Amino acid sequence: MTRSTFQSKVSNINQETIAPINANGLKVPLVFVDQLDQLDQLDRVRGLVWKIAIATLLLMAVGSATRVMNAGLACPDWPLCYGQLVPTRQMNLQVFLEWFHRLDAALIGLSTLTLVIITWWQRSGLPRWLPWAATFSLGLIFCQGILGGLTVTELLRFDIVTAHLGTALLFLITLLAIGTALMPFPPSQRTIFRESVTEHSRNPVTERSRSSKLARLGLTAAILVYLQSILGGLVGSRWALHQCFGSGELCAVMNSHLWGVIPASLATLSVVFVAWRTPGLHPLLRRLSNLIGCLLLGQIVLGYATFKLHLQVESLTVAHHTLGASLVGTLVVFTVLAWRDTVNSGQLVVNR
Ligand code: HEM
Ligand code: HEM
Repeated sequence: MTRSTFQSKVSNINQETIAPINANGLKVPLVFVDQLDQLDQLDRVRGLVWKIAIATLLLMAVGSATRVMNAGLACPDWPLCYGQLVPTRQMNLQVFLEWFHRLDAALIGLSTLTLVIITWWQRSGLPRWLPWAATFSLGLIFCQGILGGLTVTELLRFDIVTAHLGTALLFLITLLAIGTALMPFPPSQRTIFRESVTEHSRNPVTERSRSSKLARLGLTAAILVYLQSILGGLVGSRWALHQCFGSGELCAVMNSHLWGVIPASLATLSVVFVAWRTPGLHPLLRRLSNLIGCLLLGQIVLGYATFKLHLQVESLTVAHHTLGASLVGTLVVFTVLAWRDTVNSGQLVVNR
């Protein structure tokens, strides 16, 4: 139940019982005070999840900058940097990038630990899956820290650097999926919206199959774009573009990323196309599908520019990396919402 549906339920009650006044000036019978507290807990947890997700996207951009600026070994030791917490004497741009990347990663790790503690502590008022999902994300960040350390001690071995990118994306995806699953996604909006569409498209059975098709398409596109990002990570960590143009080596690695654009783009475009052709689609899903189309276009333009300019403009490569992660993330948000839309329509079918 979302806050708005809860509040409308509360306001419809003829209150004889004790009625404290909440922040919105609404009289609330005691039986619902607990439920309001639970909604506040949910809001707080959701807020924390979104904040960690945004911080992770920024941290990934810093990680990419660390790689393209050749700063991966600027701190030669791990976990400290030059044996110190803050290497003031050695500080320059490269050391700062690598040191800041670790510091930021540590803060994200602590925030995720806080999330796990809160969700287990307050589990009685939260969805049952939430503490487990939070614990899973903590497991991912733990692996990520180990991989980060190995990145340094194994002198930027390409498979470790690529696994570090893959786990970072998985962590981001997990947080976004949790945050989206906790978002209010009221069926009431759908009902209002449905007034303006035809009788046929108002049929909950038709709607359910449309949303479930969009969820499946979104999931396929998210997986393909994730794999395409891993191929991109391999190109980056092996410096395959330079190798291919310089000595004709590793062109297969470079080409795999270029060919990989086709399935990833086709799957993503089919999400945009099917969403565009679906009347009565939830407005949020429609906005997200438009965003997905724009991100794909931007990603291909940035990839082409990175390729043509032979990585000479570092900010372009970092932007290509960050937009790629945003594209995977938006596809995941879209998939979770389309799946929730399927469940909502399923409930309409049952309630009919
Ligand atoms: C929340 C945790 C972390 C996230 C999300 C994260 C994310 C990333 C990402 C996305 C990259 C760019 C990879 C690429 O371009 O292929 C990167 C690079 C890097 N990360 Fe992390 N990282 C995290 C923690 C750490 C930790 C704890 C260390 C410890 C030393 C570390 C060390 C590095 C290094 C050395 C690079 C540069 C690799 C290179 O130059 O090739 N990371 N990180
Ligand atoms: C769906 C489309 C695409 C996605 C999701 C994607 C994703 C990525 C990712 C995540 C990286 C790793 C960046 C890093 O390690 O910091 C990368 C690298 C790269 N991508 Fe793409 N990419 C796409 C399309 C393209 C296109 C169309 C081109 C060129 C025509 C391209 C050229 C490159 C190049 C040259 C690199 C290596 C950058 C480096 O060595 O630092 N990409 N890509």
